Amino acid sequence: MCGIVGYVGNKQALSVVVEGLRRLEYRGYDSAGVAVVNNKKLDVRKKAGKLTNLETLLGNDPLPDSTIAIGHTRWATHGIPNDANAHPHTDVSNEIAVIHNGIIENFSELRAELQKAGVKLSSDTDTEVVAHLLNFEYPKSNNDLAESMRRVVRKLRGAFTLVAVHAQQPDVVVGARRNSPLVVGRGNGENFLASDVAAFISHTKNAIELGQDQVVELRHDKVTITDFEGKPAVTKEFVVDWDAKAAEKGGFDLFMLKEIFEQPKAVAETLVGRLSENGKLVLEEMTLSIGEIANIEKIVFVACGTAFHSGMIGKYAMERWSRIPCEVELASEFRYRDPILNQRTLVVAISQSGETMDTLMAIRHAKSQGARVLAICNTQGATIPRESDAVLYTRGGPEIAVASTKAFLTQVVAVELLSLYFAELRLDKPTTEIKQVMNELANISHQIDVVLDTTDAVKELAKKYMNAQSVLFIGRHVGFPVALEGALKLKELAYMHAEGFAAGELKHGPIALIEDGIPVVVIVPSVRLEKELHEKVVSNIQEVRARGARTILIVEEGDDSIIEFADHIIRIPQTSSLLQPLVATVPLQVFSCALATLKGHDVDQPRNLAKSVTVE
Ligand code: AGP
Repeated sequence: MCGIVGYVGNKQALSVVVEGLRRLEYRGYDSAGVAVVNNKKLDVRKKAGKLTNLETLLGNDPLPDSTIAIGHTRWATHGIPNDANAHPHTDVSNEIAVIHNGIIENFSELRAELQKAGVKLSSDTDTEVVAHLLNFEYPKSNNDLAESMRRVVRKLRGAFTLVAVHAQQPDVVVGARRNSPLVVGRGNGENFLASDVAAFISHTKNAIELGQDQVVELRHDKVTITDFEGKPAVTKEFVVDWDAKAAEKGGFDLFMLKEIFEQPKAVAETLVGRLSENGKLVLEEMTLSIGEIANIEKIVFVACGTAFHSGMIGKYAMERWSRIPCEVELASEFRYRDPILNQRTLVVAISQSGETMDTLMAIRHAKSQGARVLAICNTQGATIPRESDAVLYTRGGPEIAVASTKAFLTQVVAVELLSLYFAELRLDKPTTEIKQVMNELANISHQIDVVLDTTDAVKELAKKYMNAQSVLFIGRHVGFPVALEGALKLKELAYMHAEGFAAGELKHGPIALIEDGIPVVVIVPSVRLEKELHEKVVSNIQEVRARGARTILIVEEGDDSIIEFADHIIRIPQTSSLLQPLVATVPLQVFSCALATLKGHDVDQPRNLAKSVTVE
């Protein structure tokens, strides 16, 4: 949840770290803080609220020049978001500074032990105990900060990324990782540590994935990685394929808007090279063997939030194409209900960040039960793909806005590809049929562009409903997950009450919510391809209109049968049914973004949220 940056090298460390924090602020914005070492003295500045508050503080109370620094943006878990609870935390000698992402589960015991030993703690956080423990271990470790860290982490339970500096070690940043992300950036005469490569890609693209339970010692010219016992660790180097520009706003006011408009490209990239010349699907990085795929009896999609909605679409696509029975499960519920899994189950974990703790725990549980795990992920080097048996990467590029947009569309493309691939291998589907869908997918980017042309009209519509108390979204078939996604976007960005329903369920309860003037957004299935479903949705529209609802209909071009039931119509291009979410979701993203902007909310960093949820 929190963003972490560490730097040691030849530049002004503070600017490098603050620049990195700006790129990581999407991970948490309850407070921000930095620590530098200069002349064997540690200096810390920290402030509640967004990074800009810290920058103001640094302007009023500057730090000395330094070539070593650490920095943190916080998403609060233990302790309210105030100055005292902001990271970095220091020990009693004020020589050690620590930043942390995650939760230290045994912190109460450790805190009690420290208090018994006479240590006065100055925050409510779980992190502060680490600073004091490092202080105890430092002399016992021959003044070796990395060894002190190894000794401390062996005492901790829970999930953590920890990064520390010591006033007496002006060329050393130490990091430790268990269940939370930490990546090393290797530069020339400088090295970086960060929760996400976005923090350092403007300096270097050479990175090292830190594995589970590893400690790294960073010097300006050397990176040493060990396990928690001090044995040299096996690590994986990679080159980041995003460029720095991708993590900037590129002329847009908001990251979210930029990312909405990047969707045609993101979808196109995710499709590049997926079809061979002889019409066969190619999923290069998806290393499950033909035998393993043939062996699958059941697929379970696990994911959270928006990614869960793409999993729902995955179920429709997979069952339609490959005829393999599928379930979709919220990752946070999965392992707690003792699901029935075996070697013939494939668990497909969908995650933009690849770090969502609920999803990570779900796949670990699945593996412990013998299931195979495949990750659909947008982030190279992340924990979920690393711990999975196979991976299918979406190629959306960095998604910075907290609200997921391009990640969702690329996930939908990925589940479609996977379904077609399994169909090809297991059912011997004729290449012509697969080619037809692939041709349609190849045109989808253009169709998303067409939907983006409706942006101004959707913004105008948002103005009309700015004061609505509640907005309902309904759909059937794949329109149902789209309705859920539309409602989620509105809740998280506009802070409005919004619900998504399967349209057929309305009469079983939710229709009681309909009152005069309530806006109901309806994702209308294709009248050309889904006549029966279309008729049912038309009935649902009439039911809500009869009770005073105002209807906003998302309808494909050419469907004029619907006009009389609409208060507002948003047109989307004609697609096959399973691909409709790729165009129907886009106006809903714009709608929420516009409403949130009108209400004066921080669209990219909505309240109480963080981009990647690395706690359970
Ligand atoms: C949606 O807009 C949110 N950002 C959230 O629901 C997100 O999709 C969810 O937390 C899962 O994140 P992941 O894809 O990184 O695992």
